[in-house]
This record gives sequence, C-alpha cells and structure tokens, in this order.
Amino acid sequence: MEDRFGHRISYLRISITDRCNERCRYCLPEERQEWLPRDGILSYEEILRILRIGAGMGIRKVRITGGEPLTRRNVLSLIRSVAAVPGVEDIGISTNGTLLADVPAEESGEGVTMARHLVEAGVRTVNISLDTLDQAAYAAITNRDFHARALAGIEAACVAGFESVKLNCVLMKGRTEHEVSDLVEFAHDHECLLRFIELMPVSTTEVLTADNFLSCGTVQQILAARYGPLVPCPEVRTNGPASYWRIPDRNQLVGFIGAMTNLHFCESCNKLRLTADGKLRPCLGSHMETDLITPLRAGASDDEITRLIADTVDRKPKEHDFRTTYLPGRRMIAIGG
Ligand code: 5AD
Ligand code: SF4
Repeated sequence: MEDRFGHRISYLRISITDRCNERCRYCLPEERQEWLPRDGILSYEEILRILRIGAGMGIRKVRITGGEPLTRRNVLSLIRSVAAVPGVEDIGISTNGTLLADVPAEESGEGVTMARHLVEAGVRTVNISLDTLDQAAYAAITNRDFHARALAGIEAACVAGFESVKLNCVLMKGRTEHEVSDLVEFAHDHECLLRFIELMPVSTTEVLTADNFLSCGTVQQILAARYGPLVPCPEVRTNGPASYWRIPDRNQLVGFIGAMTNLHFCESCNKLRLTADGKLRPCLGSHMETDLITPLRAGASDDEITRLIADTVDRKPKEHDFRTTYLPGRRMIAIGG
C-alpha cells in the first residue's frame, strides 16, 4: 500500500484497550476518566479480521498498544493469533512495563514472567515507558507509585529474550534535563535503546505549553556537554520516525523522536493506527479517522473493509498538524500512542 506522498504503509499499530493502570499527566486529562464501554471495544476476533485483511494489503509489522495493553485479559492468546496471521512478520508491544515482571496465573510454567510469555507468544520487540529514574518524580508523572514495578518489568524484559528492548522517555522541561545522562547510563547498563520523545499535544491542550516543552535539540546539547558531540547515524532506522545518534567513544545509540521540532518527521511514516474502538487513523496528529467497527458489525464483506482501508490510506496526510491547527479531540490513551 502506498499513499499519495509515497509513504509505504506496512505497519499497523493496534490499540487493544483504552484502559490503563497509570494516569500519566500528558496522556490523560485531569478530570475523572470515563472508559469506553466494553462492547464499544473491538473484540479479538474483530481485530484479527481487520488485521488479516490489512496483511493481505501489505501490513507486515504490528505493534500492540493501549492504554496499557497488558491490562486486557488474554492478551497472550491474541498475540499468538496475530503471530499466525499470514504476512505478519514482526510483532512489537508498547507498555508501561509495570506488569512485565508479573507471573500470569492463567498461563502454565512456574515463575514464567509476562515478559517471557510475550516472547514465547511471538513478540520480538518491546518499548517500555521510562520517563524518570526517580521514584517520587515517577509517582508525580504517572499518578501511581509503580516505579519499582516498572523497573522490575524492565529487568524482566532484559532477560526474556526480546530482540530489542527500547526505553521511551517523554521530555518535560524542568523535570528531564537533570536526568538525561543518568537515563543514558541506565540504558547503557541494561543494554537497552533509549529514546527521547518530545511532548505532543495529543490529550489535553494544557499538557503542551512553552513552560513544559523540552526539545530533542536541548537534550542533545546537554548530552554533548557530558559526552562530547553526538555522532549522527542516519543509516540506523527502526520502524518509525526516530533519528539515532551515537554517544562518542562508546557503542551506544540514543534515539530522538522530535515530533514537534523535526521538520522531516513524517517523511518516512509507514503507519496506520487502529483504535481500541475500531477506528482506523492514518495519522496520530490529524483528526481524520475511518469507522471500521460499525460496518464490521453490520456485516461488511472483506472487500468492503478492504476498500475502507484503501480509502483511509489514500487520505493519509502529508504530515501531522501538531505544529499548526491540531487541537486534541481524543485522548492519546484511546488512540494508542
Ligand atoms: N507526548 C509524547 N509521548 C506520549 N506518550 C503518551 N502521551 C504522550 C504525549 N502527550 C508516550 C508514552 C509511551 C508511548 C506509548 O507514548 O510515554 O512511551
Ligand atoms: Fe497509561 Fe501509557 Fe497513558 Fe501513562 S502514557 S496513562 S502508562 S497509557
């Protein structure tokens, strides 16, 4: 599948729940949260049907997201089924990490962690949120005191056998600056790939102000002061818009996801997003979405769903409009990162 701007679409991010066990301030609005009703969420069968059709159109990589995807029941059975879909070559998951060290009671195998079960089910890469190494700061950001659990989850992921473990740090002015080197050292010690992510206006407008926005460029300057100028590595690409730089004199890469400041951010976009409530979004930073759940439940044929997916790809914008007109209409948690 290719859109009007030459984006090759091969990657589907699937949000399997809008629920989460944390309450990150940049993700959720302050007011009490209404979760989507259970029957408003795609069933696993419905997700798999959309994925099978998408894989027939060229989807090769899948990322399971949320909310917190590990809060949905029987997530491992979904992942096993995703792995069995013809055409799907690569499965990743994005998680806050707090449940990775748990030993799921409903699975066999004594003492086997969720992280290990994910690997066995077919997940190759895991992206874990880690905004801070400080327990109090973690609690302030997430509104939950789960720092120790998140760290245990990272440890579990490191020994589970994933092909890669990435740590995602959302940048917050006044919070992150003094920690960037410690986070780099932490990632180095754990042999994880650390990525810094610019805050995006995806949930409530007030999350993004001049007072709390910290750019990737500033972080690069802080790191350069400590390690020397970072070495750009344009040849390193993961499945996404991150750019990678090497810490001088060591074999460590650091990623930068500069959604707000990198003007080339959208050029290599290869993604579609399926929301938990069954809408297909061609771009995180645009309100455009296609309702799939309604036609699906009204008995649409595979051909009809194929046409809806193809139309959505056709209407995929050239780039996000975070910098211009975008005002968040839907919470990040419902869209799925
Ligand atoms: N800006 C940038 N990143 C965000 N995430 C959630 N909300 C935002 C936001 N407003 C990140 C999480 C996680 C990933 C799924 O998305 O930290 O790493
Ligand atoms: Fe949950 Fe992730 Fe949103 Fe935080 S950013 S509330 S961990 S979904």
